[in-house]
Amino acid sequence: MIKFDNNLLTHVEEMDKQHMKFVELLNNTYKFLREGKKDEALELFERDLLAYMEHHLSEEEKFMEKIGYPELEQHRKVHELFRREVYNLAPLIEKGDSKAFREALSFAWGWLYSHIAKTDKKYGIYAKEVEIDLKKKDLAAV
Ligand SMILES: [Fe+2]
Ligand SMILES: [Fe+2]
Repeated sequence: MIKFDNNLLTHVEEMDKQHMKFVELLNNTYKFLREGKKDEALELFERDLLAYMEHHLSEEEKFMEKIGYPELEQHRKVHELFRREVYNLAPLIEKGDSKAFREALSFAWGWLYSHIAKTDKKYGIYAKEVEIDLKKKDLAAV
C-alpha cells in the first residue's frame, strides 16, 4: 500500500484533495488485484483511475495557467511522462500479475511522490506569492 503524507501537501486545497483521491484509487486497484479480483481491478483502473488521472492533470494545468505560473510548459512535459508510466500498469493488471503490478506501482509511486513533493509543491509556493502580491496591491490602492 502506498501512503499519502504531509510532505505531499501543496497547500492548494483542491489539488491536495485530488492527489489523495488518486492515491486511494491506486491502492484500491492493488487491493482488488491482491485479492485475485482481476476484472474488478481492471475495471477500476480503466474506468475510474485513468479518467481521474486525466481530470487531475488537466485541472492542475488549468490552475497553473490561471495563476500565470512560469514553469507551466516544463510541468506539462513531465505530466506526459507520468501519463505513460501509469498507462504501462494496464497490461500487468490484465495478466492479473499482482506481484509485478506491486513492483511497477512502487516504482510509479516513487516517481509520483517526488513529482508532487517537488514539482507540484512549487506551484503551491508560487500561488501563495501571487496571493500576497495581490493583497499588497489591494492595500496600496486603499
Ligand atoms: Fe503535476
Ligand atoms: Fe499533481
